[in-house]
Amino acid sequence: MSLFIPSQVRSDIPLLHREVHDRPIVYLDSAATALTPRIVIESMSRYYETYHSNVHRAVYVTAAEATDAYEEARVAVGRFINAAHPADEIIFTHGTTEAFNLLAKSWGRANLTSSDAIVLTEMEHHANLVPWFQLRDEIGFEIRFLRVTDDYRLDLSTLNELLTGAKLLSVTGMSNVLGTINPVAELAAAAHRHGALIAVDGAQSVAHGVTNVQGLDIDFLAFGAHKMLGPTGIGALWVRRELLASMPPFLGGGGMIADVSLDGFSAASGLSKYEAGTPPIAEAVGFATAVHYLESLGMEAIAAYESQLTSSLLTGLATNFADRIRVIGPTTMEARGSVVSFDVDGVHPHDVAQVLDQFGVCVRPGHHCAKPLMKRFGLAATARASFGPYSDQSDIDTLMIALEDAVRLFA
Ligand code: ALA
Repeated sequence: MSLFIPSQVRSDIPLLHREVHDRPIVYLDSAATALTPRIVIESMSRYYETYHSNVHRAVYVTAAEATDAYEEARVAVGRFINAAHPADEIIFTHGTTEAFNLLAKSWGRANLTSSDAIVLTEMEHHANLVPWFQLRDEIGFEIRFLRVTDDYRLDLSTLNELLTGAKLLSVTGMSNVLGTINPVAELAAAAHRHGALIAVDGAQSVAHGVTNVQGLDIDFLAFGAHKMLGPTGIGALWVRRELLASMPPFLGGGGMIADVSLDGFSAASGLSKYEAGTPPIAEAVGFATAVHYLESLGMEAIAAYESQLTSSLLTGLATNFADRIRVIGPTTMEARGSVVSFDVDGVHPHDVAQVLDQFGVCVRPGHHCAKPLMKRFGLAATARASFGPYSDQSDIDTLMIALEDAVRLFA
């Protein structure tokens, strides 16, 4: 049963109780990082205060408690995305970016050769571009791109051609700039028909709706806790269990070995081989608390609520600023999430953001780590507003007032 009461969620977030520039903070930057509920912060404090120890190394009580909590977090995160084997398929990383580096440098380096090809898209975040470019520069495979249409969707007319002979399609579930939600199940079916695997960037999608990796029939999912009301410094790469055999270790060091001698090493079995060094233990505890919190709200209820807010923002921009503000992304709610990028005619997004800040309004200006997409639309940057389950209509109302001021100032 969903316990989603937006005003309650708002009061659960300590940071929303502060003021900036003598005004209540209006946080509209959840796509960059989501705010953290008190219960998540407290779970990490409890770890440090009562059972802070390293994991997988010692037998004393607090070490066993820490190890149990760390492994329980793996299971909680796996269940959240409906992994078939939650204890065996979640590799903890430092975030989405490291998850893609792991995928490229472990699976990619072991499975791609100079005669192979992979398919990416023009709307990817740099995290799903640069690791592949780095590997391509080393190995020499081909990278093909699905382009973005004028109405901010993936151009699927070339999908079959691009997938022919490709080994991997790696695509975002939801654009961090456009808010476009991509047809992942359809893309997965096409990739598999061509004998390719599919990796999905879930950074923007996992906190805003139901994620079912089995239902989507995908092979890899990268995501980060801090966009899911959890802490910074931890994320995950979910890997369909059968594929782990084709993935050698990525980073070397303590914790990932079965044996080491002066001649070399052998890797640990299981997921440990991908988690060299002391992992982010407190963060794993916080990550688990965050996914339990999201589950208690209900992902369907969150999706419906954020959809209402996004629709209201799009209507507000169209009604009040039709001649000055252009939304860079779909303007209807069909297959779009709660990220709204916009361009104020004649005003640099950094100037817009600076005026908004005077009203306590936090938005992100910039290229959003998606420079090829910016280039596609002839932009250097946009301003971007984005929601979390703690956002409400008052945030939109204040944004409208602040935008009036920005537009007037730069008339
Ligand atoms: N990837 C994050 C964003 O889109 C930081 O803002």
